[in-house]
Amino acid sequence: MPTALITGASAGLGAEFARQLAARGADLILVARTAEALDALAAELREEHGVAVEVLPADISVESEVERVADRLRDGADPVDLLVNNAGFGLPLQFADNDIADEVRHLRVHVEASMRLMHAALQTMRGRGGRIVNVASVAGFISRSTYSACKSWLIGFSRWANAEYSREGVTVTAVCPGFTHTTFHERMGLAPGREGIPAIAWLDARSVVREGLRDAARGKAVSIPSLRYKLVVALTGVLPRSLTAGVARRGRV
Ligand SMILES: NC(=O)c1ccc[n+]([C@@H]2O[C@H](COP(=O)([O-])OP(=O)(O)OC[C@H]3O[C@@H](n4cnc5c(N)ncnc54)[C@H](OP(=O)(O)O)[C@@H]3O)[C@@H](O)[C@H]2O)c1
Repeated sequence: MPTALITGASAGLGAEFARQLAARGADLILVARTAEALDALAAELREEHGVAVEVLPADISVESEVERVADRLRDGADPVDLLVNNAGFGLPLQFADNDIADEVRHLRVHVEASMRLMHAALQTMRGRGGRIVNVASVAGFISRSTYSACKSWLIGFSRWANAEYSREGVTVTAVCPGFTHTTFHERMGLAPGREGIPAIAWLDARSVVREGLRDAARGKAVSIPSLRYKLVVALTGVLPRSLTAGVARRGRV
């Protein structure tokens, strides 16, 4: 029976990864800051699917706390087969207007924590086999402040790591959703329905996770859920950067 560790499992896409993996019989380790939300989800999944669920509350922007999660991934006696680097958040303003401490925390959660956890996971996965999913974004294909830059890093690194470590049985997939209904935009202070995003642009978490897990199982380096966003990403490859950056200024993915 595989074991999966998911960061940001207390809400949104992370909770959906937990639900779909539990439904497939995977044991889980759930990571986020809100212990009560993790406990509630763990109880629900044990009850519904009879899987084992560990709760590991941690603020992964703090080195000592992300290292506790990394220690769990390095535990070869009870190995993890699937790591989902999903925790993340957006900042409400543009770079120069944000508090620099918030920008540093943002970089740590998206890039540093993901890198530390991948490094830890590879210690037990190489040779034995395993899977890593990095939740990036279609924003990683365009230019928009530090969020896009962080997601671009995840996509670029996943491409390299997938080629490098698939030879040792470990696949690495960057899952790149477009706008998805979760608590992400609300946490940035954008009221539901007031984000200024057309209804057609929204995806639901269930289909994003289903497609992401399917592409990860196929060993793809990059997964772009939905035909709509595959087309958007294809266009970003041919349109001038200045044009896509101008359009991106309006939205938050
Ligand atoms: N929703 C979208 O439109 C969209 C589009 C593209 C990509 N994404 C990406 O998808 C991922 C999941 O986001 P979501 O949409 O599901 O957002 P969400 O509903 O706001 O969930 C974010 C999760 O991350 C956790 N988290 C945030 N900071 C953390 C920290 N310092 N330490 C540990 N956990 C932390 C939160 O838990 P706690 O608050 O309990 O810690 C929560 O479980 C993110 O990486 C996001 O960038 C989202």
